[in-house]
Amino acid sequence: MIVVTDKKSLASQLFSQRQNDKKIGFVPTMGALHRGHLALVNRALKENDIVVVSIYVNPTQFDNQTDLQKYPRILQSDKALLEGLNGNILLYTPNNEDIYGEEVRSEAFNFSELERKMEGKYRKGHFDGVATVVSKLFEIVKPHRAYFGEKDFQQLLIIKELVRMKNLPVEIIGCPIVREENGLAMSSRNKRLTPEQLEKATIIHQTLSDVREKFESHTIPALNEMVRERFLQEPSLELEYFQIAEASTLEEAKQNKADDQYRAFIAAYCGEVRLIDNMALN
Ligand code: PAF
Repeated sequence: MIVVTDKKSLASQLFSQRQNDKKIGFVPTMGALHRGHLALVNRALKENDIVVVSIYVNPTQFDNQTDLQKYPRILQSDKALLEGLNGNILLYTPNNEDIYGEEVRSEAFNFSELERKMEGKYRKGHFDGVATVVSKLFEIVKPHRAYFGEKDFQQLLIIKELVRMKNLPVEIIGCPIVREENGLAMSSRNKRLTPEQLEKATIIHQTLSDVREKFESHTIPALNEMVRERFLQEPSLELEYFQIAEASTLEEAKQNKADDQYRAFIAAYCGEVRLIDNMALN
């Protein structure tokens, strides 16, 4: 596996690939890789000739400085995991200057309704930061296909919208959430949880599964109430939001219409670690 730390070296590595009409897949990450990331890389390896993986903890998408400082950074073990895949991987690990130049700041985007709810509502500026860094990374890597996990489902829709707005020549591929055996969605932030918290956090997935099971037989207000009650009974988790939304617009659902596709979304704090998860309901 070749590792480059600046965009010039990355471009020269990719130059001959492009000349030879090779397909470039891209998996952008913030590191602390887990099986969810590896599933994205494996899929990208299957569908492309070479896969660029970026590891860069992007400061502009954090609304909370403690979260940024405490975000796990474990480059050596990340490298070992990627090496273990034995694929044609080019790892790009830039610093702030390589991505932003002198001024580390977000551009302002307008994703209208898509960004006003859930993650966009509770993490001010988050999607401007994500869209800024993803635009910059797309410009640097110029991939044919880019892979994102459905755990960040709203992010996935925002990035599809970004590509549509800027008319970028990249195909965005969303990949299913990868879970621990007990159902907890894989997340780099799980590394900050104690073994006890890891156990408690499974309530998030259990709740989503219960909502899915009851979706056809209960009204949406009743399900909202059920979830709120459940979290009130569990002091080790603090619910930030629960929402059932139409899956393509993320419009909050008030009632279940037969032809629409719905997903349920949760954000909750376990101690000071913020966790998100979501699930298709029909
Ligand atoms: O999903 C993530 O890890 C990040 O938001 C991304 C897409 C790598 C941008 O920093």
